[in-house]
Order: sequence, then C-alpha cells, then structure tokens
Amino acid sequence: TEEARALLADRIHDVPDYPKPGVVFKDITPLLADPTAFATLTDVLAGAVARHGATKVVGLEARGFILAAPAAVRAGVGFVPVRKAGKLPGATLAQAYELEYGSAEIEVHAEDLTPEDRVLVIDDVLATGGTAEASVQLIRRAGARVAGVAMLLELGFLDGRAKLEPALAGAPLESLVTV
Ligand code: PRP
Ligand code: MG
Repeated sequence: TEEARALLADRIHDVPDYPKPGVVFKDITPLLADPTAFATLTDVLAGAVARHGATKVVGLEARGFILAAPAAVRAGVGFVPVRKAGKLPGATLAQAYELEYGSAEIEVHAEDLTPEDRVLVIDDVLATGGTAEASVQLIRRAGARVAGVAMLLELGFLDGRAKLEPALAGAPLESLVTV
C-alpha cells in the first residue's frame, strides 16, 4: 500500500558525504530499528514471495540477508544465501561482476537450488544493478528459475534497471521505494 511505502521511505535516512564527499548514502538502519517498519517490510516482501509463486528466497550478502531471511520465514519458503566469494564450504557456483573500481565475485551452494525452484531475489538497494544481475545469472546456472527481484530501494538515477532487465528475461523487478 501507499501507506506502507511512505513509512518505509521515511525510515531510510540520507547520510551526506558517505562513504566519500559528494555521495549521499541511503541508510536503512533506522528502518530496521523500528519494529513497525521492519515488520511492514517483512510482510510486503513475504507477500511478493507468495504473489510470484516463489519456492525459495535468495538473499544477497550482507544487507540483503537482513531483509530476505525474515521474509522467507514469514512466507514459509527456504532461504538461500548468495555470499561474497570464499565464505561457503561446499560445492559452489561463482559469478564475477563489476564494481565502480575493479570487480568482485559472489557464490552460491549449487545444491541449494534445483530445477523445481522458482527463486525471488531480495536485496536492500538496486544501484548499478551489477550485484543483482550476477545473482540472477547464478540462479539460472544452478538450474533454477527466477521468479523475480524485489528491492527495498531503487536508485533510479543510476539506471540499474536497464542493466538488469536483459538478465531478467521478463521476470519482474519490483522496488518498494524509488529515488
Ligand atoms: C550494496 C547494496 C547492494 C549493492 C548494490 O552492497 O547492499 O547489495 O551494493 O549495488 P549495485 O546495484 O551497484 O551492484 P555492498 O556489496 O556494498 O555491501 P553489503 O555487504 O553491505 O551489502
Ligand atoms: Mg549488498
């Protein structure tokens, strides 16, 4: 609802000049510290899991874990962590992606996703779209289907949506708040 979106938007605070001069950091910790706002966010994300018929939720390390895990529990589906490289002990699939400076790599346990799975990816922020794009590629390579991507916040001016859309191949990208 619009009321829920307004509450969530109000609890994301601007931090000027972090992590460097000229950048405005979007801080979600006030939202997490407010039990009404965090519960509202969890309910909305769990609703998206059900609406898209997802059988698993993938959360993106680190901030995505905070949002995705309670949503998976609330929706009654499994949670699968996509982690930064080198953190998972089992057989993994890895995907590299570009950062502002250099590149990074994320991994998933291959056995956590099956061809029967429809996966909803949850993260806090869509910026350039590189992290989300890499996660979608990982899910496909693991043999599962992508039910969609749900973001708390979309930084529209960075146009991550355009970068992500080809990888989505028609699956929905939903952002609760767009700036
Ligand atoms: C941040 C944010 C998203 C990602 C968005 O994570 O939480 O996951 O960047 O950026 P992109 O759309 O340009 O890929 P980050 O890796 O900075 O750190 P975190 O471990 O705190 O989530
Ligand atoms: Mg992150």
